[in-house]
Amino acid sequence: MNFIGEFIFTSYLHGTLITLIYLMEDLKYSNVHYQDYLGLNEILSAQHPRSSAIEGSPAHEEMLFIIVHQAYELWFKQIIHELESVRDMFRDQKVDERNINVSVHRLNRVKEIFQLLIQQISIMETMTPLDFLDFRNYLFPASGFQSFQFRKIENLLGLKSDQRIKLGGCPYTSVFKEKQADELIETDSGKSLFDYTEDWLERTPFLEMGNYKFLDHYQKSVQEMLNKEKEEINLSHFLTEDEKEMRLMMLGSTNTYFNAVFDMNIHLEKIKKGEVRLSYKASIAALLINLYRDEPILHQPFNYLTCLMDIDEMLTTWRFRHSQMVMRMLGNKIGTGGSSGYQYLRETTERHHIYRDLHGISTLMIPRSRLPQLPKTILKNLGFYFNSSH
Ligand code: HEM
Repeated sequence: MNFIGEFIFTSYLHGTLITLIYLMEDLKYSNVHYQDYLGLNEILSAQHPRSSAIEGSPAHEEMLFIIVHQAYELWFKQIIHELESVRDMFRDQKVDERNINVSVHRLNRVKEIFQLLIQQISIMETMTPLDFLDFRNYLFPASGFQSFQFRKIENLLGLKSDQRIKLGGCPYTSVFKEKQADELIETDSGKSLFDYTEDWLERTPFLEMGNYKFLDHYQKSVQEMLNKEKEEINLSHFLTEDEKEMRLMMLGSTNTYFNAVFDMNIHLEKIKKGEVRLSYKASIAALLINLYRDEPILHQPFNYLTCLMDIDEMLTTWRFRHSQMVMRMLGNKIGTGGSSGYQYLRETTERHHIYRDLHGISTLMIPRSRLPQLPKTILKNLGFYFNSSH
C-alpha cells in the first residue's frame, strides 16, 4: 500500500472508531424508557383499595382517596428536597451572598407547591361524607397523623416539639417505627431553618457602625411618632372624651411592643414566657432589614424573610382548609388516629405557627417619612456601587 492508500485506510478506521464512540454515547442516553425513568411500574401499581381486597366490592371513591394522599406525599418529598438544600446553604458561618438568591428561588418553589396542596383539598371534597363511609372503617387506625414526611417538613422549618399539641400525652414520634422515629428526633433536636436563619440574622452588619447606632435613631423616631399620635388624639374635635381615653390606652399597648425592642431584658422575659422565640439581636436585624429593604443590598435578605413568612402562612392555610374538610366529612366524629378530629386540627392552626415573630415585625414598622436617615458611609455599603475608575 502506498502512502496515499495507507492514509485513506487509517482515516477510514479512525472515522469508524469515532462513529462507534458516538453510537455508544447515544445508546447510553437513549436506552432509558419513559416508563422506567419515572418508575411508573412501581408508582402505578401502588394503589390497593382495601374495600376491594377485603370485601371484594370496591368503594369507588377509595381510589381517589389513595391517589390524593399519594400525590401529597410526592410533593412533600419535593418540599423536603428544597428545604434541606436551603438549610444546608445556611449552615456555614458565612452565608455566600449568591446562595441567598438561590434560597429565595427554592423557597418560592416551596410556596408554589403549598398553593397547589391547598387547592388539592377541593378535589378531595368532591367525595361526599356518605361515600367516605363506604370505606372509612378499612383505614382504621391509619391516619395523616402518621405522615412521616409531613412531620419532617414541620421539623425542618423549625416547629419545636414542646410547641406541639400532644395527643393522649404521647410524643408525636410514638406513632412511627424506630427508624423513622429516630430520624424525626434527629431533625427535631438538630438545627432547623429557623435556627440557621436566626444565626444569620444575628451576624447582620450595619446595626452598629462606628458612632452610628441604629437602635438609638430608631427609638427617637418612634418616640416622635407616638407623641404626634397622642397629640392628635388629644386635640381631636371628633372624638368624645371616652373615645380619646380608649385610643390613648390602645396607643399605650402598642408602646409596650416597642419597649421590648428598646430594652433587651423585656425581650428576654418574653422569650422566657414563650411569647417570643427569635433572639433579641436577630429580631433587631429583621427589623432593620424590613425598614431599609429599599436599599439594594437588603433586597434579597428581605425577600428571603418574606418567603419564610409566606411558607408559614401557606402551611397554616393548609391546616385550616384541611380542618374544614374534616368538619365536612366527619362532623364531630373522632379521627382514625385517635384525636378529637376537627377540634384538634383547628388548634394546630393556632398553635403550630413557626415564623410568628417575623410577622410580628409589622407592629414595629414606622412610615418611610419617619425613617432615620442613614449616614452616607453606611448608605454606600448598602448600595451596589460600580465605579469605572476602579
Ligand atoms: C377525607 C379526607 C380526610 C379526612 C377525613 C382526614 C381526617 C384527619 C383527621 C381526623 C386528622 C387528625 C388525626 C386523627 O385523629 O386521625 C388528620 C390529620 C392529618 N391529616 Fe387528614 N384527613 C383527610 C385527608 C387528608 C389528606 C388528603 C392529607 C394529605 C396528606 C391529610 C394529611 C393529614 C396530616 C398531615 C395530618 C396530621 C396533622 C397534624 O397533626 O397537624 N389528610 N386528618
